[in-house]
Amino acid sequence: MIGSPRRHEAECESTQLLLGPEDPEGAIATTDHQTAGRGRLGRQWIEAPGTAVLVSVLLRPPPERSAPELSLVAALATALTVEDVTKLSAEIKWPNDVMLNRRKIAGILAELKGDAVVLGIGLNVNQAREQLPPELETKIAPGSLRTIDGRVRDREEVLETLLGRVDRAYQDWRADGLEGLYDDLGARDFLRGRRVTVDGAPGTADRIERDGRLAVETASGRLLVTSGEVLFDR
Ligand code: BTN
Repeated sequence: MIGSPRRHEAECESTQLLLGPEDPEGAIATTDHQTAGRGRLGRQWIEAPGTAVLVSVLLRPPPERSAPELSLVAALATALTVEDVTKLSAEIKWPNDVMLNRRKIAGILAELKGDAVVLGIGLNVNQAREQLPPELETKIAPGSLRTIDGRVRDREEVLETLLGRVDRAYQDWRADGLEGLYDDLGARDFLRGRRVTVDGAPGTADRIERDGRLAVETASGRLLVTSGEVLFDR
């Protein structure tokens, strides 16, 4: 079961640093504030103290599964959590952002440590508008659950919902790979049909494929993107 043992520190550099290959599968690390929170592609992840759910989970995916898919698995679990607690429809911007009302409210970072994957999830819960970074480097406007529906939530309750969702999505993925999650994933595909830019090349995102790659139609043909950044037109 994901969530035990749990290491909690009031403040730390990054919860990603609190877990290592010696920890059992399902171990988690949480904090109220990160002084050097890590985002994807070497970026920072910044939050005002005591406003976000910040959690890392240690997983040992079976060899027959493709570990990079875990970003999508966690993004789906986080989107479902957002839907559970807000009753609004959330979307997934491939490969790792969770969107609500066109704002990024959560990000996922998967890092390899030995034979384990440390999956970090940052979910903006109680930030007021002025507590959010002005604009993310990716030009996606940030938001929090509070800026969307005005409610202040108990972060422990949101964490508990999130851990349950991650546990279920991970078990499904272990058993059947992305296939078992594909309908839920495809139904929340934020980029589908949007004008996007991949490595400088413009195109139109078609869909997340069943193997987790993003299909993009460009002037020079259909691209199947495995990693990196996809920018979209507003
Ligand atoms: C991104 O969108 O670039 C990924 C952000 C991931 C942030 C979370 S917060 C918990 C964990 N600890 C970190 O330092 N990063 C992840």
